Amino acid sequence: MCGIFGHISVGGKNSASVCLQGLKFLEYRGYDSAGISGIYKKKLKSFKHVGKVSSLQSLNLHLGIAIAHTRWATHGAITQANAHPHFDERKEFSIVHNGIIENYLDLKRELMNQGVVFQSETDTEVVVHLLAREYQGSLFDAMKRVTQKLRGAFALAAISSKEPESIVCAVRSAPLIIGICHETGDIYLSSDANAFSGMTLDVFYLLNDEIASLTPEKICVINKHGVELVKNLERLELKHTKLDKEGFEHYLLKEICEQPQSLMRALLGRIDEMNMTPIFSELTLEDHVFMDCDHITILGCGSAYHAGYIAKSMIEKMAGKHVSVEIASEFRYNQPLITEKTLVIAISQSGETADTIAAIELAQQKTSRIIAICNVMTSTIARMIKNTISLKAGPEISVCSTKAFTSQLLVLLLLAIKFGRTLALTKNEATSLFSQIHDMISGVEKLLEQKSEIEQMAKKTSHYDHTFFIGRQEMVPTCLEAALKLKEVSYVNALGIAAGELKHGTIALITPQSLTIALCGNERTEEKMESNMMEIISRNGPVFAFANEGCQSIQKLTENVIFLPKLSDQFSPFLYAVATQLYAYYVAKERGCDIDQPRNLAKSVTVE
Ligand code: G6P
Repeated sequence: MCGIFGHISVGGKNSASVCLQGLKFLEYRGYDSAGISGIYKKKLKSFKHVGKVSSLQSLNLHLGIAIAHTRWATHGAITQANAHPHFDERKEFSIVHNGIIENYLDLKRELMNQGVVFQSETDTEVVVHLLAREYQGSLFDAMKRVTQKLRGAFALAAISSKEPESIVCAVRSAPLIIGICHETGDIYLSSDANAFSGMTLDVFYLLNDEIASLTPEKICVINKHGVELVKNLERLELKHTKLDKEGFEHYLLKEICEQPQSLMRALLGRIDEMNMTPIFSELTLEDHVFMDCDHITILGCGSAYHAGYIAKSMIEKMAGKHVSVEIASEFRYNQPLITEKTLVIAISQSGETADTIAAIELAQQKTSRIIAICNVMTSTIARMIKNTISLKAGPEISVCSTKAFTSQLLVLLLLAIKFGRTLALTKNEATSLFSQIHDMISGVEKLLEQKSEIEQMAKKTSHYDHTFFIGRQEMVPTCLEAALKLKEVSYVNALGIAAGELKHGTIALITPQSLTIALCGNERTEEKMESNMMEIISRNGPVFAFANEGCQSIQKLTENVIFLPKLSDQFSPFLYAVATQLYAYYVAKERGCDIDQPRNLAKSVTVE
């Protein structure tokens, strides 16, 4: 799992600098180590380091061709030896890889029996040794033979000192985009189109089992039968994405604070005021697809799964359809009860999460009613699913998802209203919901002004190593998301739990050393929540709370309350999510964590 980038210079650019710039945009795919290989004076040159792409910054060499890699370790520890690129024994071939070679142990055993000495513990290294062995004068032909031996998922790019002007790529179940600059003739390759920021390129995607040979003279692509393909080029003009914190100390805080604007973007142009119904220009599905569907299944991982979980009750209330929410990595191995009348909604910020892609592929075998919700519209999922709704959240750089999460919630809410309008939801009810959406966005703005209160709460509580978030109804999945944020950025052992479930086991963990944060955003169950808080206080467990403005009874239980603007129960998750994002941020800051790139994580998990 990782990001790969490559460049062949025709117009004189230094491929080393071009690759470094490209890798910075791919760091969301992993930042355990980074490396680059190129051809210099007909010999392979390479540099790799443990740590982030910035560790390669000192690279001071002019290369005319290069491949590069940023790693999220799967096979083998985070070491220099396991960093990509990898080489054959004579250092004539070099390779970078995104994916997992599932039969690498068998291949490795065979190669070792033939006397090959391995330098790393990675699955990738087998590929480069095989390439060297299969080479009979054409890197392209060698790659054809090698990929036939591989099982698993891969996007590969290889170079060789024997063919100093070419890069050969191969793909199976992993994204790879190739771009040509029509002005200079330079050739680029990347795991993600966004790494072509600021460029205008004619691009095409390599699809499953396709192999490409890239040289300044010719680009040749074949399929698995060896048939040469004519690829349609598409002009891609990407504005320069500023990787800029704009005065904020971290991307995470910047992205949390951007939410009034990102929510507004998710809403704008999506309301048909005549009919008081949401419209999505991206959707080509007819209304009957919602009206006669018998079930809705939502798929996602991490925060995307939590957004779906929160939306479940919105959709069930407004559309009166049963909704199941499935963790994509589990769904893909189930025998899901999906029929052609099931509507599937797949959610993914990046559009590249391997488990979500596999779950969609499984769903596609059973139903054509699939909607995706993505932030990255050039991603694999957005290309797979015609009906993909854009989150319009703008690039989310911090690994921890914040603005994409609230935009997912808003798009799901709009979908719930849309489904409702094709069924029983009246125009008046929809009008009231739209006005509440505007109140919610103003509420987020107001809440952001309370940042320093939340910072104070974080300062008082950052020493706790165990935190429980408790809540009821819509606050239950909001607690799961709050706990995920706190774990991700501050490494606190956090658990989100339905307040009523505490007494069935988790209450055994309550001690003066464990913190409970009550999310009291559900008015309907206010008194029940207060009883649950009392149960903790009676056992000497410290309790802090976020509660709705005007809810005075909470203050009798704890003086440590932060009041948030009051919204109706179904809108509260937006505010409580933002409040707990801020809390996680400030705790992480107090604890001195690497906030934007927490240890062991990657923003997009492109392996199973
Ligand atoms: C990773 C990220 C999470 C994210 C999840 C799903 O684990 O760290 O923040 O929620 O992937 O990502 P996706 O891009 O599919 O929404």
